[in-house]
Amino acid sequence: MLTRRRLAGLAGATALAFTLTGAAFAQDPIVIKFSHVVAPDTPKGKGATKFKELAEAYTDGAVTVEIYPNSQLYKDKEELEALQLGAVQMLAPSLAKFGPLGVPEFEVFDLPYIFDGYESLHRVTNGPAGESLLAKLEDKGIKGLAYWDNGFKVMSANSPMHTPDDFLGLKMRIQSSKVLEAQMRALGAMPQVMAFSEVYQGLQTGVVDGTENPPSNMYTQKMNEVQKHATLSSHGYIGYAVIVNKGFWEGLPEETRTQLERAMDEATEYSNGIAKEENETQLQAMIDSGTTEFYELSPEERQEWIDALMPVWEESAGRIGQETIDLISAAARGE
Ligand code: LMR
Repeated sequence: MLTRRRLAGLAGATALAFTLTGAAFAQDPIVIKFSHVVAPDTPKGKGATKFKELAEAYTDGAVTVEIYPNSQLYKDKEELEALQLGAVQMLAPSLAKFGPLGVPEFEVFDLPYIFDGYESLHRVTNGPAGESLLAKLEDKGIKGLAYWDNGFKVMSANSPMHTPDDFLGLKMRIQSSKVLEAQMRALGAMPQVMAFSEVYQGLQTGVVDGTENPPSNMYTQKMNEVQKHATLSSHGYIGYAVIVNKGFWEGLPEETRTQLERAMDEATEYSNGIAKEENETQLQAMIDSGTTEFYELSPEERQEWIDALMPVWEESAGRIGQETIDLISAAARGE
């Protein structure tokens, strides 16, 4: 027979069970593994840290974000596979690395001189043209959440690069984009795809002669210690799309997803707010350190670069699609 005392005991046990379950949930947050290949003190690294802080605060600890920088978990290509398999949940790969996902349209961002500065870039990344590219990821089981800025590229090597002739026969490391391959060939160089984490050593040992980077990547990987020359050519751009595994994202409780979207919006604003200045500061730090000589092109030399590189647009139309090139370049020009 259930006595009053035993009933009270049962109620207490039930309450305890609920509390324990609650506690178990509280101790068992949703984990977002965010893997990337650059240093923590880059615009992307800092954006990831900001997202972690905000995501954990807005979800009141229901979500934990673990950041793995510097290719600690995966290199360029592996991280994309890991995202599709669900081994990590969030990445921010360079837009030049979306080809292996089956979305070569993103290589439009690699076309020489497509943006003439951050304003022109933002017309694409903050508008419908950029949005339409992110939408192409959905078929691949991926959701694009935001564009994160980095910067405009400098060319570096151990010999001066003033005109396209100076590239003849240089082995230049590139990201996996076919547009970048065409770009290096147009200059007479020999492109070599190499994972970002291997570039410093590749340059140091002479496996490759040179490469291209925004100043932030060059500085934070200490590439200026192994490159005697660099040209401030701003011939192209490197930036990112923050992406998540779609199944994971859509499986989140709606309230959590809304909180994470807010965290992502604010982290994006933060990261894109610091990218330009970080690149300027880190370029200055490299100039000051004196290990690399930075060269400014004369207007005539710049024109020679443009003449050599513009044929890449036509060459890349088959891969990217003329429609995408027209859409993105018109948006970049503000049309
Ligand atoms: C590179 O491989 O050069 C860049 O994509 C690295 C990065 O993520 O900025």
